[in-house]
Amino acid sequence: MRNSAVTPLPVPPPQGARETDGQARTPKAQSRQEPFGVYVHWPFCRAKCPYCDFNSHVRHGGVDEARFLAAYLRELDHFASLAPQRSVASIFFGGGTPSLMGAGTVSAIIDSIANHWTLERDAEITLEANPTSVEAERFAGYRAVGVNRLSLGVQALDDASLKALGRQHSALEALAALALAKRHFDRVSFDLIYAREGQTAKAWAEELRNALGFAADHLSLYQLTIEEGTPFAARHDAGMLHIPNGDLARALYLLTQELCEPAGLPAYEVSNHARPGSESRHNLLYWRGQDYAGIGPGAHSRITSGGAKRALSAIKSPEGWRAEVEARGHGLDSDETLSAEEAADEYLLMGLRLSEGLDLARLAAIDGRGVDETRLSALESQGLVTREGGRLAATPSGRLVLNRLILELAA
Ligand SMILES: C[S@@+](CC[C@H](N)C(=O)[O-])C[C@H]1O[C@@H](n2cnc3c(N)ncnc32)[C@H](O)[C@@H]1O
Ligand code: SF4
Repeated sequence: MRNSAVTPLPVPPPQGARETDGQARTPKAQSRQEPFGVYVHWPFCRAKCPYCDFNSHVRHGGVDEARFLAAYLRELDHFASLAPQRSVASIFFGGGTPSLMGAGTVSAIIDSIANHWTLERDAEITLEANPTSVEAERFAGYRAVGVNRLSLGVQALDDASLKALGRQHSALEALAALALAKRHFDRVSFDLIYAREGQTAKAWAEELRNALGFAADHLSLYQLTIEEGTPFAARHDAGMLHIPNGDLARALYLLTQELCEPAGLPAYEVSNHARPGSESRHNLLYWRGQDYAGIGPGAHSRITSGGAKRALSAIKSPEGWRAEVEARGHGLDSDETLSAEEAADEYLLMGLRLSEGLDLARLAAIDGRGVDETRLSALESQGLVTREGGRLAATPSGRLVLNRLILELAA
């Protein structure tokens, strides 16, 4: 999952942004019965893409997969003790490049999750895959061990753009991988990055129309974000990389909505589109403020215990994380209890990304206050938010200024 679009917002959300004394009160509805997710981060890639600032690393000398697997299993034991008796609705293998993992490794992790918690019979089990031919050969193996949804990093549909993005696959390879994925999985998503260097509205419309023709049940369409510290940022700062911004970026975003909706894949989140009923359950879990355990280097977790929300995160360095797990059973380097205001702000930040919006009663139950009526009415009269059936949602124009909405509505 990637959460950048017209208004890039961090996910997982920032922690400890403000010092407050209250603790998050968790609404009754957010009980053990709520869906629980497990995110597994595999931090290795064949090559580092020049735009990417995810926790992903290249190891030319190879990766000791068996030793990492042992560490994943140990950290799962730890999380099972932190969040016992949950019902797992979703598992997500993200990266990095999880399609570099052997099917046996994926299988052992799924088995361990099923041993520790109740794995729902219809649980969504997603794996992110890069569409090189080598990785495509592994799809059948993933399906055989229980993965039931594949998310492919296609990124662009022409070779020149793929080269400019530093990708390891060709357009033909991507389409072949997509066809194979559709053969093995009922649920398939693919990612594209738009607002690339030199991309006009006409060129994006053509590419997106083409993509919609290949789409299965889900598409993630991310606007290219220049991330600090990446080679793209260095080129951008030196004036050597020009990407659409301002009016053109807005136009590309609006065009994306205009083309996807009639094609039967409306946005259910800023950058995510699905056929109704095919939304990623895992993504929804994050944006609906539900709990999840994040296993692996740099993974984040949100766990409700004793009525308060805990935000945990792990050491980013893969070998550093593994050494800690081997020494003390987990690789966590941060564990904070969110204050009531922090938890409410986080729910607001996540919920406003969704087309369905957020539950105002739930928000009020978290911090005991909810949103300020005067500010809310002002945003409503500007056509930026709507309130219906106890839910607050950003309108399409509101979604273009999401950061502003959040600043105005946050506690
Ligand atoms: C971290 S990657 C993992 C998936 C897989 N390794 C891949 O690259 O296909 C998840 C997605 O984030 C998106 N992404 C990564 N960096 C981005 C950036 N700077 N701007 C926009 N999207 C980005 C890409 O679309 C990518 O598919
Ligand atoms: S393959 Fe994916 S995770 Fe790895 S560097 Fe490229 S975009 Fe990032």
